[in-house]
Amino acid sequence: MGLSGKVALVTGSARGIGRAIAVRLAEEGADIALNDIPQASEALNAVADEVRALNRRALAVTADVSQPQEVARMVETVLAGFGHIDILVNNAGITRDALILRMSDEDWDAVINIDLKSVFLCTRAVLRPMLKARWGRIVNIASIVGVHGNAGQANYAAAKGGVIAFTRSVAKEVASRGITVNAIAPGFIDTKMTQGLDEKQAAELLKRIPMGTVGTPRDVAEAVAFLAGEGARYITGQVLGVDGGM
Ligand SMILES: NC(=O)c1ccc[n+]([C@@H]2O[C@H](COP(=O)([O-])OP(=O)(O)OC[C@H]3O[C@@H](n4cnc5c(N)ncnc54)[C@H](O)[C@@H]3O)[C@@H](O)[C@H]2O)c1
Repeated sequence: MGLSGKVALVTGSARGIGRAIAVRLAEEGADIALNDIPQASEALNAVADEVRALNRRALAVTADVSQPQEVARMVETVLAGFGHIDILVNNAGITRDALILRMSDEDWDAVINIDLKSVFLCTRAVLRPMLKARWGRIVNIASIVGVHGNAGQANYAAAKGGVIAFTRSVAKEVASRGITVNAIAPGFIDTKMTQGLDEKQAAELLKRIPMGTVGTPRDVAEAVAFLAGEGARYITGQVLGVDGGM
């Protein structure tokens, strides 16, 4: 129960990796502020029930994290409900894959706004209370694609590469104030995001994973729990791969 008394805000936590992170941090003793888009509110409330079943407090706040006003309202609601935010996990994300010549402006803007701008907006919004508390943990869910690139995902790779550069920069800005900022770069994790791949694509991907299996949301959540805990207090500005050796 290394995180008892702490409050964690996890964006995009109605399902997939975000849901696993919320549950894992609750197991560590944290109270959890859950976020997702309004269309996912039913699933979000179900995750809130899972957190409460672990005897932790849960608050579900719907907001589109790519929108400045919605992020401001979300953070105000969490502060009003819980009084503080100690841990931010920027997890919300989407893909809009297309080869570059077929990629529309909308595909580009949607991914940059939801996967990258949201990380800036949420980080800026929680930093003031964290700076006051002189303690904070920010964990950004990037991707292996942001490190190595991937054909058909130039928008996603640019956004996730941006998240990594943002992580390293903000880590340096706030390091002296007891706040760490790290990124996790998952490889191929079994969620709705990857279930859209056809059999051939999935088989090709599996061949590139030295461990020979896809990862689970729980594998990513374990890494978040470590980086959010006291044991990681001297680790900042890092990118931790959770990718089976990819
Ligand atoms: N699944 C993988 O293999 C994989 C690999 C590397 C990185 N990631 C990253 O992990 C994170 C979680 O992905 P996942 O696989 O669980 O996908 P997912 O699609 O299952 O979950 C993403 C969640 O984010 C929410 N979301 C989308 N737009 C939002 C917005 N504007 N505001 C708030 N919430 C929003 C969705 O509603 C959904 O609940 C993403 O950042 C993704 O890029 C996933």
